Amino acid sequence: MFKCIEKENHYCNLFNGEWVSNEKTIDVFSPINNTILGTVPAMSKEDIDKIIENSKTSQLKWGETPVSERASVLHKAAFLLEDQADHIAKVLMNEIGKDIKSSLSEVKRTAEFIRFTADAGKHMDGEAIGADNFPGFKKNKMSFAQRVPLGVILAISPFNYPINLSASKIAPALIAGNSVILKPPTQGSISALHLARIFQAAGLPNGVLNTVTGKASEIGDYIVTKEEINFINFTGSTEIGKHIAKIAGMVPMMLELGGKDAAIVLKDADLDEAAREIVSGAYSYSGQRCTAIKRVLVTEDIADELVKKMLDQVQKLKVGNPEDGCEVTPLINTKSADFVQELIEDAINKGATLLCGNKRIDNLIYPTLFDNVTTDMRLAWEEPFGPVLPIIRVKDMDEAIIIANKSQYGLQSSVFTQNINHAFYVANKLEVGAVQINNKSERGPDHFPFSGVKASGMGTQGIRYSIEAMSRLKSIVLTVD
Ligand code: NAP
Ligand code: G3P
Repeated sequence: MFKCIEKENHYCNLFNGEWVSNEKTIDVFSPINNTILGTVPAMSKEDIDKIIENSKTSQLKWGETPVSERASVLHKAAFLLEDQADHIAKVLMNEIGKDIKSSLSEVKRTAEFIRFTADAGKHMDGEAIGADNFPGFKKNKMSFAQRVPLGVILAISPFNYPINLSASKIAPALIAGNSVILKPPTQGSISALHLARIFQAAGLPNGVLNTVTGKASEIGDYIVTKEEINFINFTGSTEIGKHIAKIAGMVPMMLELGGKDAAIVLKDADLDEAAREIVSGAYSYSGQRCTAIKRVLVTEDIADELVKKMLDQVQKLKVGNPEDGCEVTPLINTKSADFVQELIEDAINKGATLLCGNKRIDNLIYPTLFDNVTTDMRLAWEEPFGPVLPIIRVKDMDEAIIIANKSQYGLQSSVFTQNINHAFYVANKLEVGAVQINNKSERGPDHFPFSGVKASGMGTQGIRYSIEAMSRLKSIVLTVD
């Protein structure tokens, strides 16, 4: 590891307030046109050891810094991020192929997230608990329970929100007094390093945020098993999340993983509204969102009408270059596009009705909609993370609930109906983190609790919940005679 000066698009890691690199680098290409965007360092295991040591030492002073001072740094970071939003959104668009409007919205939403976190952190009070309400105890005992940091947080973010899902780990961890090591997604590291720059420019003390770029296939297992890490905050696929949970040992963690969010449409739904919400929920950023609607369960009596309205909406989607405001853009890489194509072919071979799509140019997959998907098809159960949506016809809401709950995933679901009793009947029975009534599935607003059950994860995100997860209650007990 050596000091580096960023030039000719060679990006560096933040280590103890300085920018550092390594002899070995990784080329980052744009998914839009395969042009090279820059290189990032491939940090070694020895580098990681030094970084962890530094994060550990730096946390001690930061943990004792008054919360109001930590909040000021976060407010400054939010201001700087908003100020540079246009530039950073363009970097993001080129690196992950997200349309420019959504890229800008990711950056601005992140600035709001950081600002809200700074304010929320100031109100995370502890409490004083008397003993005399517990049988057998007198008034002479008091527990002073206060929130203290955990130590070093390892934040691992996915490619689809490299700014937002990095900041949504970093900001709550920092306000709680932890230091953070950010391991960004390799495809997304350039955007994430821009975010690190913002925190440094905002006056974050040296070493309180360090970054580690490098292919997880080479350094991932090493970093997650370091015993100095006090908490792992991971967002990504279920496969990798389960792997980390297995090897990391007795370290607390939050896992936000994959999903197969169902939209359940009942006969008393407003079908125009349902079609609009479902199509936008399924195809924005080409379906590369954990909360994308990934299957539709519709009762037979209204299926024909819904399908027609959905098809109308899908045909209006703009497909192509993210710079031109297209919602459906090239997928992150060839492997992902091949996987989506496999699911499409499986559905066709097993007799699903192809309504539109199944057209591919390199990694660009045109919005694909299937009717009459059945439960023997892979598309009924697997997460494509691409612009393909299966419609499964069911006889009634109970059958919809059974199929929805059969999934290994349990992130979110939507139910579309104008009947509040039906809405709550379905919502209460679904095994998911959240149910949206007459709305597409989505994480925001970001202070709402957001969590997955079953293979969709463990722990709860959302500003206050994230601060709670990355701090602990420490009690000091006073006894007087
Ligand atoms: P991924 O392949 O699981 O990678 C996620 C992150 O984990 C990347 O930074 C990756 O680094 C790193 N990683 C991979 N192997 C690792 C290991 N052994 N140890 C430590 N880190 C490791 O996921 P993705 O393709 O980026 O994201 C798509 C998936 O994320 C989808 O399944 C989606 O549903 C899910 N997701 C869930 C949520 C949620 O909140 N529930 C939100 C967004 C996305 P490299 O890039 O270097 O491999
Ligand atoms: O897939 C990322 C996730 O956190 C979802 O956010 O706003 O797209 O629902 P959103």
